[in-house]
Amino acid sequence: MGRLAIIGGTGLSQLADLKIIKSDRITTPYGVPSADFITGELNGREVIFLARHGNPHSIAPHKINYRANIWGLKQLQVENIIAVAAVGGITPDMVPAHIAIPDQIIDYSYGRKHTFFEDDSVTHIDFSYPYSQTLRSRLIHAAKQAGIQISPIGTYGCTQGPRLETAAEIKRMENDGCDLVGMTGMPEAALAKELGLNYATVSVIANWAAGKTEGEITMAEIEQNLHKGMANTAELLKAFVEKV
Ligand code: HPA
Repeated sequence: MGRLAIIGGTGLSQLADLKIIKSDRITTPYGVPSADFITGELNGREVIFLARHGNPHSIAPHKINYRANIWGLKQLQVENIIAVAAVGGITPDMVPAHIAIPDQIIDYSYGRKHTFFEDDSVTHIDFSYPYSQTLRSRLIHAAKQAGIQISPIGTYGCTQGPRLETAAEIKRMENDGCDLVGMTGMPEAALAKELGLNYATVSVIANWAAGKTEGEITMAEIEQNLHKGMANTAELLKAFVEKV
């Protein structure tokens, strides 16, 4: 397998077990990426790590320069991306603190710089299956080997943020077929596909989505579930790199 990158999301601004080798600050034709690209070793394997929201966490979902991030990874000869992202759970299997490996996307975000082909009106990439099946299968296999329970399938709905959704918006998303809701899955996945990179997502469920429980969603609840979920994610990533 070619060079591997991990994009860390909320709750994963650093990879604790990464033995850091070097750090690259990269500028791109699309501007400045979220953070320096950290090259290191995870379980003996070379991995490039990027903190999507910056390190420390400071860039909101709608302000992330997704194009600079993906372009930077391509410049570093990355071929495979595992993107970690916090989400809300919509359907009953998507229990807080658990992990899902989604297989589909519905994009509700807007106004983001979402393509490298802005001035090229004739380039249409295929996006029928947005995530790399090979990377997904390997993640699912690694989870099994590490004894980590995951949902091996699901549709990720990407909202604009930074606010959370209304209960009615979540009801609509559920009717549309969404299992998970997050704010950063797009255009990241599509940009990776435009540059021919293999991309899959580890979704860490931080809370039940709006209207799925009584009362409001609290940051305390999100942080608590993410803490648990990210510990499992770190184990999953270590098992994943052992196998590739
Ligand atoms: N909605 C959108 N994004 C999220 C959520 C949510 O409920 N939880 C974590 N990221």
